[in-house]
Amino acid sequence: MTWTAGYNNSVAYTTGYYHEQSPTFLNACLAMQRVSPPSLEKFTYCELGFGQGLTSLILAATHPNGNFYACDFNPLHVLGATSIRDEARLSNLTLLENSFGDLAEGKVELPLFDYITLHGIISWISDETRAQIMRFLTRYLKPGGVVQVSYNAMVGCAQVLPLQRLLMLGAGEGGDAWKKASELARKMVNLEALHFKRNPDSLGRVEGFGNLDERYLVHEYLHEKWTPFYFADIAREMAEAKLSFAGSARFAHMSPVAWLADEQRQMLEAVTDPIEAEELRDYFANRGFRSDIFVRGKAPLSDLRLREQAGHIHLWGNSAVPYKTAVTLEHATLTRSDAFHKPLFDLLHGAEMTLAQVFDAPEFAGLTPDAILKLLRVSIAVGETMVRYGAVQPRETADRLNAVLLARAEQGEASGALASPRLGGGAGISALDGMMLAALHTKADPVKALARDIDELVARVSRSLVATGLRLQVGGAEVPPEETTMRLRHIFEDSGKKLIAHSIELGFLNAQKTSAR
Ligand SMILES: C[S@@+](CC[C@H](N)C(=O)[O-])C[C@H]1O[C@@H](n2cnc3c(N)ncnc32)[C@H](O)[C@@H]1O
Repeated sequence: MTWTAGYNNSVAYTTGYYHEQSPTFLNACLAMQRVSPPSLEKFTYCELGFGQGLTSLILAATHPNGNFYACDFNPLHVLGATSIRDEARLSNLTLLENSFGDLAEGKVELPLFDYITLHGIISWISDETRAQIMRFLTRYLKPGGVVQVSYNAMVGCAQVLPLQRLLMLGAGEGGDAWKKASELARKMVNLEALHFKRNPDSLGRVEGFGNLDERYLVHEYLHEKWTPFYFADIAREMAEAKLSFAGSARFAHMSPVAWLADEQRQMLEAVTDPIEAEELRDYFANRGFRSDIFVRGKAPLSDLRLREQAGHIHLWGNSAVPYKTAVTLEHATLTRSDAFHKPLFDLLHGAEMTLAQVFDAPEFAGLTPDAILKLLRVSIAVGETMVRYGAVQPRETADRLNAVLLARAEQGEASGALASPRLGGGAGISALDGMMLAALHTKADPVKALARDIDELVARVSRSLVATGLRLQVGGAEVPPEETTMRLRHIFEDSGKKLIAHSIELGFLNAQKTSAR
């Protein structure tokens, strides 16, 4: 067995930020599912398998109160993340080029952790490597500590198992693995293999290949081990490490889910084992992916304790998402009664509030805390409402990281996300917005610069487009090179102020700097 233990290392992993791994977000998820979260005053954190490292970089930058560790056995990943960490001077992040086995065996001196997170790991490794992770959790998680783990869920992935085997068959040995793999799958579809006719989810995956990054596809499918899990099996393994299921890191998945039909609800209410009930929900929604939270020692929150925690949970409206009565949650479209959902939307679009203030708002007099939590879960799940646990941390480290990420975006290394002190984590940004913000954020007053320095801003973004090899697209069509300057000017004029306002709202830009405040 090589150091990769069946893991495909032929291409570096894509860059991604996953907010479900943020301590401030996880604490909000826990408290809003009535489980006591750890204190965020000072904490330790470990990410297993950090890939390009963007999640750990952003979390360390937005949580200067935390001591972060992250490991990945791929030296290329460690090199890339280390260079960003050092340039941004993030002294609270230790990057380790170690395997999970090394850590489980205690080969590296580590503290005990309050949070251990794994995104995109356990469905892509061998049973032996997963056992090393379980040993690591047993050894290094504090009592009261939190584990977030995401994985492919069997109920929604069972149809896809034969497709993954087919892709591995097509990939064979040697180079061009994804090309050979996907060609075989497409050929089988074109030759009307009955598997794809009888298994539409499997067919849908093949049809979607063209829209996805090849590096992602290699890491998703081309592993000797590609293992979807039943939730109950993961819960049982976690129980052996003294970990209890505390709920979901996805607001749409939190129980009681909003989309259950009355008869489905009645059936689930009769199921006394919460693990069994959760597994049944996977069947109702045909879930193919899960992001679960486990805790070592599950302390439920009484009404009184929930009220205490509610003072730490901050909520505010996302100005980019308008109110819609009908919303989609998982597989279902939900038509909301506007009696409470709309007042909640209006309230939170007026100002940031704590959950305690929402509990006491006259709009919801007569509703129980659980009924209010249910309204909020839907609103957060559809992106209308943003949430953060605890106070906003000092912003210096986030500013430094954003400056590095923006400078790199101008060189063609777009990260896709920036650090948001207000969110206690990261938020997405498109490649063009990143280049525009890179030009704007060096200005003493970005709003004034929109009028005063427009030629300079346009010239800078034009240079970035050339450096990155990206072509400007407007309305789905590529802009001819001779029109780029004029179009960029229009984009700055039409959306520059909005971009600045959005960046201030998320904390990408410091509000003190601009006349827009
Ligand atoms: C699918 S990627 C996910 C990366 C990151 N969590 C993300 O979602 O962007 C899995 C990562 O785990 C790392 N990895 C796999 N097996 C490992 C092991 N046994 N020890 C350490 N790292 C491992 C790989 O190098 C890779 O970067």
